[in-house]
Amino acid sequence: MTRYIISNPEASRGEPTRLNGTVKVQGAKNAALPLIAAAVLTDKEAVLTNCPDITDVENMLKIYSSLGGVTERRGDTVRLRLEYMRSHEIPSGLAGELRSSVFMLGSVLARSGKAKVAYPGGCDIGLRPIDIHLKALSEMGVKVSDRYGYLLCDAADAHGAEVTLDYPSVGATENVMLLAAGIPGKTVIHNAAREPEIEDLGNFLTAMGAEVLGAGTQVITICGTKERGGVEYRVMPDRIAAGTYLIAAAANGGSVTLKDVRPEHIFSLIGKLRFAGAEIDLYSDSVTISASGRPKAVGVVETGAYPGFPTDLQAPFSVLAAVSEGSTVIVENIFETRFKHVAELTKMGASVKVKGRVAVFEGVKRLTAAKVQAMDLRGGAALITAGLKANGTTVVENGYHIERGYVRPEEVFGSLGAYIIKV
Ligand code: UD1
Repeated sequence: MTRYIISNPEASRGEPTRLNGTVKVQGAKNAALPLIAAAVLTDKEAVLTNCPDITDVENMLKIYSSLGGVTERRGDTVRLRLEYMRSHEIPSGLAGELRSSVFMLGSVLARSGKAKVAYPGGCDIGLRPIDIHLKALSEMGVKVSDRYGYLLCDAADAHGAEVTLDYPSVGATENVMLLAAGIPGKTVIHNAAREPEIEDLGNFLTAMGAEVLGAGTQVITICGTKERGGVEYRVMPDRIAAGTYLIAAAANGGSVTLKDVRPEHIFSLIGKLRFAGAEIDLYSDSVTISASGRPKAVGVVETGAYPGFPTDLQAPFSVLAAVSEGSTVIVENIFETRFKHVAELTKMGASVKVKGRVAVFEGVKRLTAAKVQAMDLRGGAALITAGLKANGTTVVENGYHIERGYVRPEEVFGSLGAYIIKV
């Protein structure tokens, strides 16, 4: 059972551990996962560079292998080849580990004409239904039936179509793109999600030979091809990991430079951090943050679809809210139950009231170390950040949640001067 232990030798003087140094940001989890699904579309080699070594990616690669694929990782480069489909089934054990297994639906259907997928797992942060995915795939001619917890899909009559999503779901947009790229005909997705990871998927599919226009906007047009070629592609930088480290620097003080970041992907966060008092310099592919003194409360933060404030940064940001001078209201608009980390922060002395999707923080000067549980991926990262600010030694249990999405956070924070170990 992995746990992170964070201590703070400056605490006796009432100071948090200041963070200082330079970090290269990892490749994006939420881009790498759909790109592995997209690699199913070709029988040629797909090479992903800057592919983060995290357990979600490892599990997605296991699913790829279970379909008949061969994978090889060397550092951050992963080579994938699926010459012959051995199976069209996503094993239930693996699907239970990983919600993104549902993205395999679109590409497995395109490649083999049918798919059997267990209902997906992933973070327990709300209902996370897949009705929007299924409705869109049905509009493209896929027949879906539901047996004993499995979805059975048949794409014998699949065709390009005009699809309008009821909500700009990231996963549903990606699933439709994957199916559309692998079947002949033209598909237009209206009300598509605009997250940068969608643009990354569009670029990857284009590099494989599909025609994709408008990825990253509300209307995406995809013209599929009968065969897709091989591809070598660099996974985009992880905006959520970058945001997590910026928030930690703003909460603790210090001066941190992040390399391999696209500042335009995190503007909604940068605005809030500047309001809180941090100085931030933006360059084309790096960001420097300097902070000192107690952060100022930013008022209201509401999560929203991109380019709004990312729900994935809500938990890390709540640590800043917990220690800022004044009150902060955080409204979670995307997922129903994404405040589980708040109870753990309360054990560390945070003053928070939660009602439904709203959390109200009265900032405290200092947090106190405690034994806390990571309840999900981003909430777990938030607890590490809180530990850096706390008096004494904090233990974050259930570290496996954090390993799903962050590449060796103990090394990243350690290189910035934090006292943190993983055991
Ligand atoms: C993706 C990200 C996740 C991020 C989320 C929102 C990946 C691997 N994960 O998740 O980190 O937090 O986007 O930015 O990229 N919904 C439905 N029916 C559906 C699909 C979604 O009701 O068929 C609801 C969800 O329950 C949720 C909201 O729509 O409340 C957003 O979900 P969606 O955009 O699909 O998120 P994911 O793709 O699961």
